[in-house]
Amino acid sequence: MTNRSSPKFLALAVVFAAAGLTACGQKAAPPAPAPVAAPAPAKPAPLKAAFVYVGPVGDAGYTYAHDAGRKEAVAKLGDKVATTFVENIKEGPDAERVIRELATAGNKVIFATSFGFGDSMAKVAKDFPDVYFEHATGFRTSDNMRVYEPRIHEGAYLAGIVAGRMTKTNVLGFVGSFPIPEVLRNINAFTLGAQSVNPKIKTKVVWVGSWFDPPKETEAAKTLINGKADVLLQNTDSTAVLQEAERQHKYAFGWDSDMSSFAPKAHLGSCMLLWGVYYEKALNDVLGKTWKTGATKWGYREGMTDFVKIPDFVPADVKKKVEDAKAGLKAGTLDIFKGPITDSTGKVQLAKGLAADDKWLGGVTFYVKGVEGKVPASK
Ligand code: GUN
Repeated sequence: MTNRSSPKFLALAVVFAAAGLTACGQKAAPPAPAPVAAPAPAKPAPLKAAFVYVGPVGDAGYTYAHDAGRKEAVAKLGDKVATTFVENIKEGPDAERVIRELATAGNKVIFATSFGFGDSMAKVAKDFPDVYFEHATGFRTSDNMRVYEPRIHEGAYLAGIVAGRMTKTNVLGFVGSFPIPEVLRNINAFTLGAQSVNPKIKTKVVWVGSWFDPPKETEAAKTLINGKADVLLQNTDSTAVLQEAERQHKYAFGWDSDMSSFAPKAHLGSCMLLWGVYYEKALNDVLGKTWKTGATKWGYREGMTDFVKIPDFVPADVKKKVEDAKAGLKAGTLDIFKGPITDSTGKVQLAKGLAADDKWLGGVTFYVKGVEGKVPASK
């Protein structure tokens, strides 16, 4: 910037003054005033949005998938939005403090990305009626709080088709986080997918009581393998189960993001969560003033789930079965939970011919027939 009293400014002033004189020293007619451009309309300030993550972003898994979704939405919306995130936030009282701070800091939209953030978010939402609150995988809604969720049990079912054909022991293993309906649905869908190609399938479950705890996830994988499970799936956030399967020459799947590179021999496919499509929509809802409370549950059909990277060594007819199932999900002709659904005690949970609706899916508290053991009480 040129300072008015600087030599540079004075030199420029002399040049301009000289330019106002003609060659014979007479003053020239003043030049026509240059057209003044209308001031550009002030750009609206970007919409401030914050994301609360339960784990580290890292390079794979649940939180990584959320952050990839955030980046995808930013790439689409450009400078209309300004996003930030906080990672490794524990479910519980600390989450309330963090969400409150984000609202106080002027964020207009806050995404809390794990089931256990629900209570905390509901409390803060009451105190900030002008902020939009979005809770992933939850169920509490209010005028300014809504929920969103991918139908990831679709990925679990597709993984089950592959597992059912690749197992030699007919025993599958599942590492569970918390016994909530979402996770029970995934265990059941995995088992039903496997049973659709192999009626002898049994599934064993080990619960770790955490979303992200790689050492515990590893221990759980070891226990399952010791119990004869030779194909594993997990509803936890890290690559630990897949990597343990690789070490022990068993099979397993990626979960939440593409984990193929972590276990090239064990990996049979990855169940993907593609959050970007929702984040773009949610931010556009606020920008366009069309935000409404409610619940969004999207799956393969809407581009929010996928199952990818089945390796070449999986037989072609198995791959074809997966592709056919995907086509059914897309067309809405495949219902993963279609009656009769019998639980592990022999009770019919969904009558013959009925297809599960969202209410039924949200109330799954049992194992389907073929899953061993009892569902532990949820905390
Ligand atoms: N990882 C951390 N939180 C969650 C959650 O709410 N759902 C799922 N599927 N995975 C998670």
